[in-house]
Amino acid sequence: MTSDIHPRGQLTPTMDTISRELANIEGTSGRTTIGSRHQRSILYLEDVTVDFDGFKALNGLNLVMDYHELRVVIGPNGAGKSTLLDVISGKVRPTAGRVVFGQATDLIGLWEHQITALGIGRKFQTPSVYTTLPVWDNLDLSLRRRSKGVYATLLSRVSSEESDKIARTLQTIGLTKKARVLAGQLSHGEKQWLEIGMVLLQDPALLLIDEPVAGMTDQETRKTGDLLQSLTDKHSLIVIEHDMEFVRQIAKTVTVMHEGTVLCEGPVEYVQNHPRVIEIYLGRQKEPHASV
Ligand SMILES: Nc1ncnc2c1ncn2[C@@H]1O[C@H](COP(=O)(O)OP(=O)(O)OP(=O)(O)O)[C@@H](O)[C@H]1O
Ligand SMILES: [Mg+2]
Repeated sequence: MTSDIHPRGQLTPTMDTISRELANIEGTSGRTTIGSRHQRSILYLEDVTVDFDGFKALNGLNLVMDYHELRVVIGPNGAGKSTLLDVISGKVRPTAGRVVFGQATDLIGLWEHQITALGIGRKFQTPSVYTTLPVWDNLDLSLRRRSKGVYATLLSRVSSEESDKIARTLQTIGLTKKARVLAGQLSHGEKQWLEIGMVLLQDPALLLIDEPVAGMTDQETRKTGDLLQSLTDKHSLIVIEHDMEFVRQIAKTVTVMHEGTVLCEGPVEYVQNHPRVIEIYLGRQKEPHASV
């Protein structure tokens, strides 16, 4: 393992842990550590491979995440970032490996709706809100669809408890003043926040968020960073992002993916100065960025 020397000349605790736990080191000590870490992790992926007709979109990927962690995943186009979220959310079934949620729930083989019900919410890159309905109604539908289904939801009345929950969510996503505005009239950034609110109303323990700030203004990007950071009080998050300024704003631990596997993992300054990371981004631009 050559990737565990911190740029400041120290072995970082994160990389020390990662290099032993996650970097496919042979031997029993590494495996024992994975097992014990697994006991207190919200998400645990081991040797996950996704094979699309011989092409390995994920290739022996290992990842462990703690409760209340905000993990940022970066990597060049085609690295397998979205496929990773597809696997966790049940959209794609791995050909090998383990995906464990919480203490012991094996996610492999479950349907997407079952995984959602277990507490994993996904926000896709393109906002998919009901543009002809007001912001409030979008949130209302999302909240009540969970227990009643769409048609019953449309016919039923909102309880005060549900109403409070929607109001709190509006506050969290900063759209209280826009509650009665049609979702179609929101800016791109506001639509993204609305969709995050809709996912939050499903009460996910873990949120999967793919490229949330693509197309946002700088101000919207900063607000999104503040929003995502505030969510770690109650949730764990995996955020895929290319925008390194945004990554620097929100990330404690960054996982760099390349060719379907984890290239390195650690604090943002660490990964940005990692020789292999610089190498894979070289010839594209100086630092990992959206246009690579
Ligand atoms: N259903 C599929 N069938 C075949 N190949 C696929 C499929 N889905 C993804 N791939 C391939 O797997 C690789 C990883 O794709 P993925 O979308 O996970 O990359 P990514 O890291 O999210 O990239 P980007 O930054 O462009 O969003 C790519 O080469 C992609 O073409
Ligand atoms: Mg992607």
